[in-house]
Amino acid sequence: MTAAIQRRLELPEPHNATQTELHPELNRAHVRFIGLGKTYNGQQGPVAALHGIDLAIQRGEVFGIIGRSGAGKSSLIRTINRLEQPSSGRVLIDQVDISEFDEDRLVALRRRIGMIFQHFNLMSAKTVWQNVELPLKVAGVPKEKREQKVRDLLELVGLQGKHKSYPAQLSGGQKQRVGIARALVHDPEILLCDEATSALDPETTQSILGLLREINQRLGLTIVLITHEMAVIRDICDRVVVLEHGQIVEQGPVWEVFGNPQHEVSKTLLAPLQHALPEELQSRLRAQPPSSDAAVVLRLQFTGSASDEPDLAALFSALGGRVRLLQGGVERIQGHALGQLLLAVTGSSLSAEELRQRAGHWAQQVEVLGYVV
Ligand SMILES: Nc1ncnc2c1ncn2[C@@H]1O[C@H](COP(=O)(O)OP(=O)(O)OP(=O)(O)O)[C@@H](O)[C@H]1O
Ligand SMILES: [Mg+2]
Repeated sequence: MTAAIQRRLELPEPHNATQTELHPELNRAHVRFIGLGKTYNGQQGPVAALHGIDLAIQRGEVFGIIGRSGAGKSSLIRTINRLEQPSSGRVLIDQVDISEFDEDRLVALRRRIGMIFQHFNLMSAKTVWQNVELPLKVAGVPKEKREQKVRDLLELVGLQGKHKSYPAQLSGGQKQRVGIARALVHDPEILLCDEATSALDPETTQSILGLLREINQRLGLTIVLITHEMAVIRDICDRVVVLEHGQIVEQGPVWEVFGNPQHEVSKTLLAPLQHALPEELQSRLRAQPPSSDAAVVLRLQFTGSASDEPDLAALFSALGGRVRLLQGGVERIQGHALGQLLLAVTGSSLSAEELRQRAGHWAQQVEVLGYVV
């Protein structure tokens, strides 16, 4: 952690009596939501966007928020820098309740929290340099310091040569790099990203994710990130929370949630990352065995340490009969092996239920998908 960031962490003492009631682990949380609720006054009456959110985001982690459209993701992230005022409950940053901050304290808070957006929000009539410099000018930073800062940041985001360009002359990825540089001008300790890569192609997304990772590791920033792209969560987040109808339905380390999603919403959101049953086979799949020689189709999911992949020879021999591999793969997330196997078993002396139980020695989850001839 840099000295500058260390300095900025010397924050006011907690001023709230309930602080002492907090669990010590949660007490160290960088961002904490306690019973957070948000209700908007919509045109057709009140809209409850969030309720009963209890969540702790640790310092220095990359934290992902996923959920269907309208689940409340943006509402949640925007309470961290008070772009949205909570309707109930509390938001603590470094154990300080920000819910009641006045305008002056909000200005100071927002300098500690940078934000980047899907559509970059750059000023089209200003150059790259001016876009990054503007918040420093507004804050009254002297010219020499401003120039040093803008130069350093443009170098950090890899845009040294583009300082005279206007946003219209930049690619999407370059625009987002300007957005990132601008978000970092006040050396924030938290960076909020709301769909920051959604307007970018996959290759550019990868380069922006690489930059965010670097910022997270080099500067020690806590990053809170919303995305509809599950691969983004898989590639850079440490932990993830799943929202549905304004509530938390699941949370945990990415490898755990992705390896074995529990809630229906998580399963649906993560389905695109899973290997689907080939369409031709899906159409032939039956719930009951159509004949005595029908194959049982099993789906095995396993999550283990990286050296813990299942021993296929042992698995196949335990199942008996003839085992065909229909689909399969192993992915690595945070040092864990997450795998899925789709198998068709014929000629085994075991029933479908017995096959399911046997396979359970090698996998965390085994499902009998059905039967095919
Ligand atoms: N300013 C507002 N006034 C009224 N209702 C709002 C307002 N902002 C959000 N909402 C409502 O609150 C709910 C949550 O919205 P939010 O923008 O937080 O969802 P989201 O998860 O970010 O969705 P998306 O993935 O589409 O961005 C939605 O029902 C939305 O219509
Ligand atoms: Mg949103």
